Amino acid sequence: MNEIKFYSGEQIPLELHKARVVQKIQLVPIERRLEALEEGKFNTYRLSSKDVFIDMLTDSGTNAMSDKQLAAMMQADDAYAGSQSFFRLKQAVEDVLGKKYYLPVHQGRAAENIISHAYVKKGSLVPMNYHFSTSLAHITRYGGKIMKLLYDEAYVIDSMHPFKGNMNIEKLEEVIHINGAKNIPYIRMEASTNLIGGQPFSIQNLRDVRAIADKYDIRVVLDASLLGENAYLVIQREEDFKESTLGEVIQIMTCLADIVYFSARKLSSSRGGGICTNCLEIYKELSPLIPLFEGFLTYGGMSVREMESMAVGLYETLDETMISQSLSFIAYLVNALDANGVPMVKPPGVLGAHLNAMEICKHIPQKEYPAAALAAALFLVSGIRGMERGTMSNQRDEEGNETYADMELVRLAVPRRVFTLSQIKYVVDRVTWLYENRKLVGGLRFVEEPPIFRSFMGGLEPVSDWPQKLLEKFREDFRDQL
Ligand code: F0G
Repeated sequence: MNEIKFYSGEQIPLELHKARVVQKIQLVPIERRLEALEEGKFNTYRLSSKDVFIDMLTDSGTNAMSDKQLAAMMQADDAYAGSQSFFRLKQAVEDVLGKKYYLPVHQGRAAENIISHAYVKKGSLVPMNYHFSTSLAHITRYGGKIMKLLYDEAYVIDSMHPFKGNMNIEKLEEVIHINGAKNIPYIRMEASTNLIGGQPFSIQNLRDVRAIADKYDIRVVLDASLLGENAYLVIQREEDFKESTLGEVIQIMTCLADIVYFSARKLSSSRGGGICTNCLEIYKELSPLIPLFEGFLTYGGMSVREMESMAVGLYETLDETMISQSLSFIAYLVNALDANGVPMVKPPGVLGAHLNAMEICKHIPQKEYPAAALAAALFLVSGIRGMERGTMSNQRDEEGNETYADMELVRLAVPRRVFTLSQIKYVVDRVTWLYENRKLVGGLRFVEEPPIFRSFMGGLEPVSDWPQKLLEKFREDFRDQL
């Protein structure tokens, strides 16, 4: 395991890489940050990155690339059809994910569109451990419904259950009985379940899902966008796989799925995406949709440079020192905030640390978007940009009513190999200050609400002058600091 012990006994993650290309960032004064929030309508998606100090919005397309990935981009083969870049990528998919048919797409949600287009129709039901916003949107757009089937433990935010992303097997069988296997085009399993705080599932659980799928002849679709980290946590937390390598665990998981798809923006620290399978029939069903929606079959909407960096990035997901880097920083961040009393999702998961806004802002009703308000407040007091993962990320129901989220979280993403430990310590410091002043944070309401993906582009305003009050308290405590 890649852990280096300090003589002093201090437990901190040690970077096993060095920075050779860097990007300058700046911390603008809090008064400017308030203006930026007003310009961005209190939605962290609408901020301009020039106003952001520590950008923890997402790990999507923001993981640091390796020198080898950048070098590979220089050997890209610019051919519309039959590019050598595609064949190198196809080989990487086969070597790492164990699937011989590969369909290129421009990013993860494009894969979801293709799979939903092929298999979801009116009346279809897709059981899943949990949805991701884009997977839900595509399934509903094609007339299907989803059913989230986590165990109750997954919703207990500080429960230390090691595999909160596990699918509830008993419920899965019940749902198949009630709805009929013929109405279930596939079962979707999401590695490192994003919206509940980046929580993994176990191999045992995936095997149980496979057994039920076989019993009722239903396909299993694996969303592998965060597969590397899920595999790493399997090695850490699942007894039977303690001695396994990342490559072995990844292939055990992909072998249990009929279709594997992914956002390469996450999986391989690049851009792009893909769908892969070992089943010729599935390949034949899906492949005509690639030229229709994405681009020719040997590029699928990606540039040849992206494909080269993705191929190298896929091989690099087999490197424990790379995969564990963001996990160890997340664990450091979660444990430090937890020690300061800040309510967090536990155990530390994948992709980022998650603040429990439902608890931190319990004085803000869910209809005033406590997680969005906390994300805006954190940006104001620190220049740290997190992402709302709560009711604002949900869609209204058919009657236009709010659908309240199971959890109100602010995600502080920790992209791979991007931040230093002192930057993470700054995050701990400012989140702790905000937690101690949490009563000053108030709610938000929509002033511009798009019907779909309102969390991306919607505009909000504070329900009172709370941002001004928070700014005044910051000035009192930090004086002329930024
Ligand atoms: N599946 C999962 C589990 C994801 O986390 C994402 C994206 C997608 C699919 C869609 O992939 O963005 O390439 O189209 N997650 C990003 C995030 C947006 O910030 O968590 P995409």
